[in-house]
Amino acid sequence: MLEHPPVQVDVATGPIEADLEVLGLPDGETLPGALAGLPGANDVKTRFRKTTLLRPGPSERVLVVGLGKREELDAERLRVAAAIAVREAGNLEATSVSWALPESSSAVALPTAAAAIVEGTVLASYRFDRFKARDPDDPPPASLERLALLAPEDADADPLAAEVRFARAAAEAANRARELQDLPANLLNPAYLADRARQISLAFEPIAVDVLDRERISELGMGGLEAVAQGTAAEPALIVLRYSGGSEGEAPVGFVGKAVTFDTGGISIKPSQKMEEMKFDMSGGAAVIEAVAAIAELGLPVNLVAVVPATENMPSGTATRPGDVITQLNGKTVEVNNTDAEGRLILADALTYCVRELGADRVVDLATLTGAVLVALGSTYAALVSNDDAWAEEVRAAAERTGELAWRLPLHEEFKELTRGKVADLTNASAKRKAGTIYAASFLEEFVDSKPWVHLDIAGTAWDVGREYVGSGATGYGVRLLTALARERAG
Ligand code: BES
Ligand code: MN
Ligand code: ZN
Repeated sequence: MLEHPPVQVDVATGPIEADLEVLGLPDGETLPGALAGLPGANDVKTRFRKTTLLRPGPSERVLVVGLGKREELDAERLRVAAAIAVREAGNLEATSVSWALPESSSAVALPTAAAAIVEGTVLASYRFDRFKARDPDDPPPASLERLALLAPEDADADPLAAEVRFARAAAEAANRARELQDLPANLLNPAYLADRARQISLAFEPIAVDVLDRERISELGMGGLEAVAQGTAAEPALIVLRYSGGSEGEAPVGFVGKAVTFDTGGISIKPSQKMEEMKFDMSGGAAVIEAVAAIAELGLPVNLVAVVPATENMPSGTATRPGDVITQLNGKTVEVNNTDAEGRLILADALTYCVRELGADRVVDLATLTGAVLVALGSTYAALVSNDDAWAEEVRAAAERTGELAWRLPLHEEFKELTRGKVADLTNASAKRKAGTIYAASFLEEFVDSKPWVHLDIAGTAWDVGREYVGSGATGYGVRLLTALARERAG
């Protein structure tokens, strides 16, 4: 059901065949002896993002990518440099690339540098072109098939191999999440996502899957998911994945991801401009599902439960009306004053299910929840809101390590007051349009039974980020973050 081919990644210490050799060069550093005498070698540019192509032999091509100031070199710059190399490889129709890793004296530790180059390369190799006509006589467009990392001979092989394996699995999972994001809503409906979850569970023995249908959702009392789904002909699903990689009896960590496969706004309908982007409103769910697959592939010793409430949000004769009052799974009542604030309604039930039924002792949720987060943090940071400092810091640190950045916003009793309803316990949208992102988080907090909880609002970071390695489309934000978080917890 997913088609994007993975990139093969190898580590070598000796010379290795590749269509294109890549060398990252910081300011003030000179080319190695064999390249220094070549024509053009004196004009090699070391400014960050600048490239120079050298031809040491008739069939050899070396791409020098400028890394800029040594003291500014970090994993993020290497991800970008790797993506620039993929772009140049594409222009040269090279399908294999070798990357000379920086010496261990560099500002970035060798395994970290290797991981960053793998991430940048794999992510930048992502394409979504399955609906484009292709002339049957033309060869298929060249895409990157292989990355070889050239390590210095004295490099410690084990940590290097471990980082590379981890980075590759997480970045490939991110690409799969991007494919789910990119699939249009007429194909990727809740049933499709549920099938993907079943497929993952079949592939990994320690993963169990459970999909609750419309009837079960109503029976259990998930009034939020039921209310959002009642206007659409597409069957909703509450998708549950359980990964048992840790010790028996250890309470699982909960991952929750919003999967509105298309958000029209419902009766509170959205303006038509850019409405097509609302196929991405399932980005949190896609990230959670593919992160679980990556964690299972890596065999990380943790216990996880993932809950993905999936539905369309459509206007129709059966749709929820503004002002309708619903009862969520935990018994709290909500007046639905804006049917476009649907994400919080389905997440509320998913969070309750995660802590009460599945026994998660801490949760992190990912959701394209508010346009307001784009105003506050653009596409650079996701908003992080939490009721627990230690858990917040753990998630924030994992975010920073992966370059999937998150910035904490505060909770406060005054925001909470805005969520109180006129005729019900809560309202899903207040007339005062203040602090929209925190408002939504304050609403969600009502459904976690005071368990340590982190909410990540990824509406600004799930697509259109513009960094070289993800471009302007789907980013898979959260997959690498969650995988890193699980790895960190595994110790
Ligand atoms: N899916 C949207 C949030 C969104 C908006 C994501 C723009 C990406 C880009 C969400 O369901 C929504 O519509 N939120 C409303 C909430 C409001 C009605 C309180 C919003 O942010 O406008
Ligand atoms: Mn909405
Ligand atoms: Zn939405």
